[in-house]
Amino acid sequence: MSEFDLPPHERPERGPLKMPRYRLWTVFFVSFGVWLTGAVWLIYRYFLRTEGKFGQVRDPLEAWWLKAHGLFSFWTLWIFGLLWSVHVLRGWNARWQRWSGGWLVAFTFILAITGYMLYYVDNTQWRAGTSYVHWILGLIALAVFFCHWLSKALPKRP
Ligand code: HEM
Ligand code: HEM
Repeated sequence: MSEFDLPPHERPERGPLKMPRYRLWTVFFVSFGVWLTGAVWLIYRYFLRTEGKFGQVRDPLEAWWLKAHGLFSFWTLWIFGLLWSVHVLRGWNARWQRWSGGWLVAFTFILAITGYMLYYVDNTQWRAGTSYVHWILGLIALAVFFCHWLSKALPKRP
């Protein structure tokens, strides 16, 4: 009898894909944290700057939100590494939720690369373009995360 003849909750690959509660909460906390700190920074950057005598004045908290975002972004990559073999590769090999999972991985890669570029690319035009790509994809990533989390797809037969 193949493992695909078993009901989904008894399939051997399900155990490691269904995360233990503490890991699930860490994934939620870190993913939501990186998203929220980025989104709050955007509010400070685009809506909470005021006109002062010598041009626009930044709220002092703006810089702190970016520092918090940097902290969460390191943490995101750590948890991504943790999920790589126990979740990502296993899910992929089980042909289970490949679309939403694959998109989530693609988003994570692009966010990590553009995040790196935001640190190290000096060219002003490139930096501005990278910033838009990074935060627009970043905002959308939350929807991809929810699609993946709430998707009730079953594994495909090989
Ligand atoms: C950035 C990468 C990923 C993250 C952060 C992530 C996160 C999650 C989360 C939070 C859940 C819900 C787990 C639960 O309710 O216990 C989940 C479920 C699942 N993920 Fe992923 N995932 C990622 C990539 C992938 C990939 C690439 C695949 C497969 C191709 C995959 C396949 C699955 C499957 C099959 C489930 C359902 C497990 C079940 O219902 O037992 N994931 N994922
Ligand atoms: C894998 C996930 C992510 C990583 C590794 C990451 C990494 C980074 C890094 C390294 C920076 C540069 C920080 C600095 O200049 O001091 C940055 C900036 C930023 N990130 Fe993310 N980030 C991620 C996800 C997100 C998400 C989900 C959002 C959603 C809104 C987001 C929004 C932003 C914004 C608005 C900035 C500031 C852009 C600018 O300086 O022009 N990031 N991110």
